[in-house]
Amino acid sequence: MDAPPLTPSPTPPLTRSVAARCDYFDTGRCRSCALLDQPYDAQLADKQREVEALLPAPAAGWSEPVASPPVEFRNKAKMVVGGTATEPTLGILDAAFAGVDLRECRLHTRGLHDALPVLADFVRQADLAPYDVVQRRGELKHLLVTESPAGELMVRFVCRSQEPVARLRKHLPSLLGRLPVAVATVNLQPAHKAVLEGEREIVLTPAATLAMPLGAVTLHLRPRSFFQTNTAMATALYGEAVAWTTDLAPRSVWDLYSGVGGFALHLAAPGRAVTGVEISQEAVRSAEHSAAAAGLADVRFLPGDATTYAVNAAPEAVPDLVVVNPPRRGIGDQLAGWLEGSGVPHVLYSSCNARTLAADLAAMPSYAPVRGRLLDMFPHTRHYEVLVLLGRR
Ligand SMILES: C[S@@+](CC[C@H](N)C(=O)[O-])C[C@H]1O[C@@H](n2cnc3c(N)ncnc32)[C@H](O)[C@@H]1O
Repeated sequence: MDAPPLTPSPTPPLTRSVAARCDYFDTGRCRSCALLDQPYDAQLADKQREVEALLPAPAAGWSEPVASPPVEFRNKAKMVVGGTATEPTLGILDAAFAGVDLRECRLHTRGLHDALPVLADFVRQADLAPYDVVQRRGELKHLLVTESPAGELMVRFVCRSQEPVARLRKHLPSLLGRLPVAVATVNLQPAHKAVLEGEREIVLTPAATLAMPLGAVTLHLRPRSFFQTNTAMATALYGEAVAWTTDLAPRSVWDLYSGVGGFALHLAAPGRAVTGVEISQEAVRSAEHSAAAAGLADVRFLPGDATTYAVNAAPEAVPDLVVVNPPRRGIGDQLAGWLEGSGVPHVLYSSCNARTLAADLAAMPSYAPVRGRLLDMFPHTRHYEVLVLLGRR
């Protein structure tokens, strides 16, 4: 999801029952928050109705949907840098590829909001010319900033080439003096295309990981690793996963599409073997770091394709519980078919797309939903997360 902004406005303070107001939205500069005209409670009720229409009802009925804070919930700012080195814009590009500044977006956590003007100053100070899409000139393409629940920042400068690296290193101490930056990096994205980040990362700080304490578990996030963008909803999601599976007492768990290990690390328990499978090597390294820091010996993470891992597993390796949390496309027919024939007693499916979830469930007729809950990971948009626990009929 790209950052949908809300700006402070003279209208009354936002509550859950009134529609949010945003100058950027009202003036047409940014329309990312497509549902902004609708009161938050009504958005949530519509999403719940959609879930109930798309998916079979769980045996225990649908739990009450989990509401997000309506503002200041996004822990990651993805800002396209436009304008000039002396007057940079942080936000998006308009139809003519000119920068539109959205630094007042109220979806960002307070720490991100306060950091953006300081980062704009830093762009000036380090003379980082924004990349001009039309002229194909300039260096700085994006600023990607993540705030941890403890208030620390990971700041990533996505650049066309290494040209600004020396200047960034020279001026970095002044940035570290002004903001609680734990990790600063340059990501190299040389291609002239609308891709957020490239393959190569140059770490400028002694630390390369941002600690994300979430309740009892701390996830250590490396650059280029997926992390749920709404910290409150991520905490609720992992908490629900633990609550729903404790009574099942699985002795073995697979976490497929494990990312930085959110489900795997929360589900780790004495006497339980947990295996995470994830395509991104950087996310696997993040998860391994977190498992080691927590002293968890029986949790391992493997790089690779989730479906390939499952279909090649020996019959005796099939676990008691499989967690799947795929991208929007869902798990697809092959993995659904394998689960269907696998004998795995329970599947916990966390989905950001109820339509592909419905298609995957249709491909697994032996399973029926036992519990289900919507978590509003993406307020003011049509998107949300839905968690379902499946049991064999
Ligand atoms: C929605 S994220 C979930 C991450 C994690 N479960 C969490 O809670 O943060 C989906 C993850 O699937 C990974 N992924 C995408 N395709 C994959 C594949 N074919 N096999 C394994 N992992 C994949 C992505 O890199 C991403 O980390």
